[in-house]
Order: sequence, then C-alpha cells, then structure tokens
Amino acid sequence: MAAGKGTRMKSRLPKVLHRLAGRALLQHVLDTATELQARRVVVITGHGAEQVEAAVAGPGLGFVRQEPQLGTGHAVQQAMPVLPDDGVVVVLSGDVPLTQADTLRELIAACAGSQLALLTLDMADPTGYGRIVRQGETVQAIVEHKDASEAQRQIKEIYSGIMAVPTALLKPWLARLDNKNAQGEYYLTDVVKFAVADGVPVVAVKTKDAVQVAGVNSPVQLAELERAHQLRVAHVLMNQGVRLADPARLDIRGTLACGQDVDIDVNCVFEGQVSLGDGVKIGANCVIANAHIAEGAVIHPYTHIDGGKQPVQVGSGALIGPFARLRPGAVLGKEVHIGNFVEVKNATLKDGAKANHLAYVGDATLGERVNYGAGSITANYDGANKHHTEIGADVHIGSNCVLIAPVTIGEGGTVGGGSVITKNTAPGALTVARAKQVSLANWQRPVKKK
Ligand code: UD1
Ligand code: CA
Repeated sequence: MAAGKGTRMKSRLPKVLHRLAGRALLQHVLDTATELQARRVVVITGHGAEQVEAAVAGPGLGFVRQEPQLGTGHAVQQAMPVLPDDGVVVVLSGDVPLTQADTLRELIAACAGSQLALLTLDMADPTGYGRIVRQGETVQAIVEHKDASEAQRQIKEIYSGIMAVPTALLKPWLARLDNKNAQGEYYLTDVVKFAVADGVPVVAVKTKDAVQVAGVNSPVQLAELERAHQLRVAHVLMNQGVRLADPARLDIRGTLACGQDVDIDVNCVFEGQVSLGDGVKIGANCVIANAHIAEGAVIHPYTHIDGGKQPVQVGSGALIGPFARLRPGAVLGKEVHIGNFVEVKNATLKDGAKANHLAYVGDATLGERVNYGAGSITANYDGANKHHTEIGADVHIGSNCVLIAPVTIGEGGTVGGGSVITKNTAPGALTVARAKQVSLANWQRPVKKK
C-alpha cells in the first residue's frame, strides 16, 4: 500500500519516496518482497502515483491505482483482480521500511495457506493504532483507535499493519467491507470479524522488535528510524571485526564489504557499493561512494571519493588525503600517494606515483613512480573535447605546470616548474617552457614626487 498522502511529512515528495539509508522507503519494502521471492508484487498507488511508479518501476513489478483513497481495505481491493486465487497475500505498507524477510516468512508459515495471520506488537503507548481484541487467547477483532471503547483503548497489543492471508479467503471478505465507522473508511482490519464469523482461525504472530514494524509519518520518525537502522548495520560490521570509533556516527547508504582489521573513524558516509580490504583505515569525515580500496590503504580525513558508474580503485598501501577528491575512473596502483586538495578524474596512476599537493589529474596516465608537482594540472578540455595526457614512468613534473592535452611526457623526463607544455617531450629530457629569468643589477625603484 503506497497510496496514502503522508500529510505529516509536510513535503511535496510523496511519503513513500523519502529516503532511508539512501533508498526510498517503498524500495526497502519491494526489496524485502524480492527477498521473499513473491510470485507477484503489486504496488497500490494514489497520491503522487506517477512519481511513485516512475521511481520504483522494475521488471516483474505491477501497479494498480487507488483513486480516491477510501481506506486500507479499499486499497487492497484494487489489487485483487491481478492476484492469482491460489496464493497467499502479504499486505505491507510502503511507509514501513525495515521489516525483515524472516519475520514475514514466520507470518506466512503461521498463515499456513488456510488461516488469517496478523503481525502484532505490544506497545507501551498504543495511541492511534488498531487494537487486537481477544476473548481468552482467541483473536476476535481489530478495533481502530478512533472506534475503540475506553476499555479497548487500554489494550496494549496493536496490529502492525502487516497480515498474511489466503487470496481465496481475502477476496470475498473485501467484497463485504463497509465504511460505517468513525473515519468513514473501508478498513482492511474488518476482515478479522469476517474470519471469526466464517470460522477461519486468526493467528497473531507477536514481534518484540518495534523497529521492524515502525512506520514513518513525520521527519522526526524518519530520522529516528534511520538512526535505529544505522546502529544495526554498525553492529553487524563490528560483529565481523570492523572497528568503528563510534557506531552512532556512521552512515551506510548502500553496501559496505570489509576485510579484516578495518578501522573507521567518526562521521564517515558510505554510498553505493564500497569494499575495503584488510587493514584499511578510513579517517574522520570521509564520504566514500562506489569504490574499491585495497588492503593496507589509508584514507586520511575529509576525503571525498565517488566513482559513480566507473568505480574508483585504490591500490594496496596507497595514502589518500587529507582533503583529496577521487572521481569516476580514478584507478590508483600500489602505494600511490594523493595529498591535500588533489583531484583525480578518469586517470590511472601506476604503482608508486605521487601527487601530493594542490593538483588536477584528469584524463591522464601517470607511469610508475611519477612525481607530479604541487599546483600542476592537466589541461584536458579544449572547450569542446577531452584529451589525454600520457606521462611515462619516473617522470618528474615540477610545481605549477600546465600540461596541455593531448601531450606525452617521455619516460624519465623532467619538466621544470611553471612550464606550460604544449608539445611531446623526449624520454630523459629536461623541458622548461617559460620566460627566461631576467635580473637587472642595482635596480632603483621609482620614488614618489614631492
Ligand atoms: C492502519 C491499521 C491499524 C494499524 C496501523 C499500523 C487500518 C484500518 N488500520 O492504520 O490497525 O495499527 O495501520 O500502522 O488498516 N493507504 C492506502 N490507501 C488508503 C489508506 C491508506 O494506500 O486509502 C496506505 C497508506 O499509504 C499507508 C498504509 O496504507 O502506507 C496504512 O495507512 P495508514 O493511514 O497509515 O493506516 P492507519 O490508519 O494508521
Ligand atoms: Ca489513516
């Protein structure tokens, strides 16, 4: 169900498209359905339908529209025509992102293809939720908060919003729903009454894990759930041996694979697919996306890495940062050094190459052991096209050079500081391309007239 408005988010973005751990709330739910290998996955859209459908569209995913939105029972009615009669329906909410597949498997097992299974939870403050009304142990009904008597409002066990029910039973029950209640809505929860009336057993599967059934209704709840989720991810990593300076100051918005003896300092953000080899150290305040960092590499504080569609590769023992920027297509060999305020884009730096200060290396290949001086840049763009710079092994580029691509600096060559290089240079040559120094002896500066 993803048709609701989400008024309390006070946002133009449909609620289910707000992000948790870098993914839309609804995407979390769909990924869990995929994990369950659901035969059909149907998203019920309404508010912002076009935007929601475009954001999550994927192979095997179906959409039905609910317009207007007349309640959760009315929502599920819309999906019935596209669901096979011989299956079990699992009803999920697009704004409840952290339910685990195992919990749903347990619920589906409780349904056993013939019963109505409800996921429930005991809450200290159940205000606003549907209450599980029992007679003895047997579930009799779900009563919505607004329809509940004073006595029913004392019940702490609430309905999570998640149920598993045979399609063949659900269809006729939905057809019997009415909207004669406090909210004038067609309540999905009324199917419990019909199950009881028809003699179909109603089983409550009670979870103790509130995070798994927590819904997002407001920015505060979104932030709270994000932190709860991140803390869980941090604990999984620590249990694998990863050392986190502070598990409360880590954000993973994608997947992070770590080798042995990885150290991560505070306030680091990982996005997309990132892997860290054995012994990698990540300094404080780094943002690292789509990158593979080999064993023993050290990423110093405040480094920004984003490989986008061309993952960044950092070789073993490399030293990066502080304040370095690695962009798509940066491929760094073993023991490469990238220092402060150095930007690398679509460039290969072979083993032992160094660019330690204030430099730009774009669309270039630097051979083994190249030393690339402070303030030097590859002028890779002529205003229309990008061109390549090739720097041979053991070249020494002085400070403040401009290498105007396309250009090749021959192996073992040296380029004098301040040079603007426009032509290829021969291996082993010293090339200087700047005005010769002129000195006038005993130069008398002008004096101010009286
Ligand atoms: C619902 C349950 C309540 C339960 C609570 C758990 C009903 C009648 N009540 O209450 O027992 O304790 O969830 O959070 O089901 N939606 C639609 N179309 C609609 C109405 C809602 O798609 O016409 C979607 C919403 O976008 C949301 C989900 O259904 O994703 C639940 O709706 P919401 O209004 O949050 O349900 P509650 O009234 O809080
Ligand atoms: Ca409601």
